[in-house]
Amino acid sequence: MLTVDQAFRKFKSRLELNQREQDNASKRQQEVRDVLGAKFAIDRSFLTGSYKRHTKTKPLKDIDIFFVLGEAERHYRDKSPDKIVDAFYDALAAEYGEAAVRKQTRSVNVDFGVVIDSDDNTDYRVVSVDAVPSFAKDGDYEIPDRDVAKWILTNPETHASKATAAHQAFSSEWKGLVRMVKYWNNNPAHGEKPVKPSFLIEVMALECLYGGWGGRFDYELQAFFETLADRVHEDWPDPAGLGPPVSDAMDAARRERARKLLKEAAAQASKAIDQARRGQNGEALKTWRALFGPKFPLS
Ligand SMILES: Nc1ncnc2c1ncn2[C@@H]1O[C@H](COP(=O)(O)OP(=O)(O)OP(=O)(O)O)[C@@H](O)[C@H]1O
Ligand SMILES: [Mg+2]
Repeated sequence: MLTVDQAFRKFKSRLELNQREQDNASKRQQEVRDVLGAKFAIDRSFLTGSYKRHTKTKPLKDIDIFFVLGEAERHYRDKSPDKIVDAFYDALAAEYGEAAVRKQTRSVNVDFGVVIDSDDNTDYRVVSVDAVPSFAKDGDYEIPDRDVAKWILTNPETHASKATAAHQAFSSEWKGLVRMVKYWNNNPAHGEKPVKPSFLIEVMALECLYGGWGGRFDYELQAFFETLADRVHEDWPDPAGLGPPVSDAMDAARRERARKLLKEAAAQASKAIDQARRGQNGEALKTWRALFGPKFPLS
């Protein structure tokens, strides 16, 4: 029978990116770039966000692609952020159809109609991408934000180097734990996501997963859920110090809901740890599975 530690190792590897998924992501990047390139001057495009940092969970949804616009598109920078989002939407909807394309706060989402099975598998395909218009600025990027009606600054390299440093300081277990808690956050059992945006989990992990890897997934996750619950009401600035606070998307009621659900997750983790301690291994696995969802293995 699978031990809890073996189950977590399997869970961790199921949430890792594999070559087929990366090949599919690159193919979609090129395809969307071709569509947008027919209508806009694009200097370059690159896969970024949690996908690039290896902190994205499964199924692979909303992979971020930055499209760095050329000088010929500079006029959009003088207009309100919704104009470029509208223009990206029009170009993408003409290709993929309106039902597959959605305007978001900072990007346009394109859904490729991939079926997600009951085990959260997609046959190694990317479900959707976020096409993010951007302008290069002194080593950073300006991107539109329709919520604040401004162009905001961001820097993917800074976020990536912070994640890498945290990962290394945590015996290379940090990204795996972040992916697991983001998988928990996406569990449809909650209804709406407890923590919004899920990037906030990673931002909090930069401060909340510290002191070194203790060697056990169950203990680390129990403590991580507990700390997230205790600190989700705080304001969390952009780790790069450029954009608006990452926690701005949640009002007081939403933070309280997140706190409650994170506390419940910590309590379930404690229960699973206790079950394993009493020798009820199968029950412990079931408790973790109910907490995380189908990618947590029972055998
Ligand atoms: N408030 C912010 N200020 C500056 N940059 C931000 C901010 N929020 C997000 N970003 C950057 O934009 C990227 C994409 O944002 P997004 O919300 O998709 O997060 P993500 O890390 O990709 O997580 P997810 O796995 O949910 O897609 C982030 O990875 C981060 O680099
Ligand atoms: Mg993203």
